[in-house]
Amino acid sequence: MRKSNLDKLSNQIYKVVKIGSHFKLQNTAGNVVGTNGINTGTRKKAYDTGKALREVVGKGGKISYRLTDMLEFENLVAPLKSNAEVNVEKLDNHKEITDFIHNESVKLKPDGLVISDLKWKYLIRSAVRAKNIMMTGPAGCGKTLAAKALTKGLKRPDFYFNLGATQDARATLIGNTHFDSKKGTFFAESAFVKAITTPNAVVLLDELSRAHPDAWNILMTVLDLGQRYLRLDEAVDSPIVNVAEGVTFIATANIGGEYTSTRVLDRAILDRFTTIEMDVLNDEQEFSLLKYMYPQVSEEDLKAVAEISTHTRDIAKTGDGKLSTGISTRASVETAGLIYDGFSLFEAAEISMFPFFSNDGGVDSERTYVKQLVQKYIKDEKADEALFTEPTEDDSEKIVW
Ligand SMILES: Nc1ncnc2c1ncn2[C@@H]1O[C@H](COP(=O)(O)OP(=O)(O)OP(=O)(O)O)[C@@H](O)[C@H]1O
Ligand SMILES: [Mg+2]
Repeated sequence: MRKSNLDKLSNQIYKVVKIGSHFKLQNTAGNVVGTNGINTGTRKKAYDTGKALREVVGKGGKISYRLTDMLEFENLVAPLKSNAEVNVEKLDNHKEITDFIHNESVKLKPDGLVISDLKWKYLIRSAVRAKNIMMTGPAGCGKTLAAKALTKGLKRPDFYFNLGATQDARATLIGNTHFDSKKGTFFAESAFVKAITTPNAVVLLDELSRAHPDAWNILMTVLDLGQRYLRLDEAVDSPIVNVAEGVTFIATANIGGEYTSTRVLDRAILDRFTTIEMDVLNDEQEFSLLKYMYPQVSEEDLKAVAEISTHTRDIAKTGDGKLSTGISTRASVETAGLIYDGFSLFEAAEISMFPFFSNDGGVDSERTYVKQLVQKYIKDEKADEALFTEPTEDDSEKIVW
């Protein structure tokens, strides 16, 4: 059946993100915007199948949503700013390279990425010198964002692989053998093979620390500066693919005791990279970032979000047992987005901050600690009134003062 011509695809397209146990929509500007009245089943389906949801305007302006390829969403995501007109491949003498690193490269840093100039220059330098880079740091501190900004800024062919999400390392990194009745058995090489054979490509290996050890084994020769080849089969004399000239690998990893779902990276893999540790933002930096992203939200609320999250990070760092984890910058950006959409500070925290903390231990639980911290800001802001008008959904969770 032909689709009605009156159905118009709008440019509104959303990715479904899971916050706590809720499926929320994220728009192409990166803001979490709620649910738009889409039922939970559809949102969950989109999330589970990795699809985006596109708004369709039907007859009489009726809005509905259709599952669509995630690429359509990715294509609309606000591009990271890169306005400097540099062509890194053309840098040929030492002076040009150092000039570029120390003077020009800072212009390539997008406004929305908080990273010190020094670390940024270091990233650029590693890429220009075709060194493999490993960005480390806790969850949600900007590793992927920085790596993507770098690939965008350098105007080199870029390829993205999320190794944390791959089940079959061999199929993802090498390819698959297929059978066709006419051609017989043939080998379909992976997108990764295409990436490493593209000269000057910047290949992003996201979440390398979550990858299956099979993936690390396959990557071992690829990443080794003395080898730089990929073997297509386990057999010793099997064909190999050489890594093209100028190809740089940028990996990201959560490394640290807190990350239990993260496999401990093999020492040999780590050795093949220059490590750049992402800075975790302090409260002023976090506030400036939130202000940059949500200028419409009151500074008081943004300050509260920045202080609450950086405070939890500081407490977690002391290791005195009060909090085992801190609120990430990602979560504080999400909290600010909810406030932007009209939720109160407490409501926003309930969705995007509290789920990270366990209820174990009742009044002594980590969650109670963080709730009390948030309550303090509500008290400061809206005096006593808020204490009586901000009930939690579950009465048993109410904090008794
Ligand atoms: N340093 C930062 N500068 C700007 N935005 C940041 C920064 N850190 C985190 N954010 C915000 O948090 C979101 C998540 O960041 P990102 O995906 O880069 O985290 P990550 O370190 O790769 O986390 P993970 O370990 O979970 O993969 C970003 O989209 C951005 O909104
Ligand atoms: Mg990441």
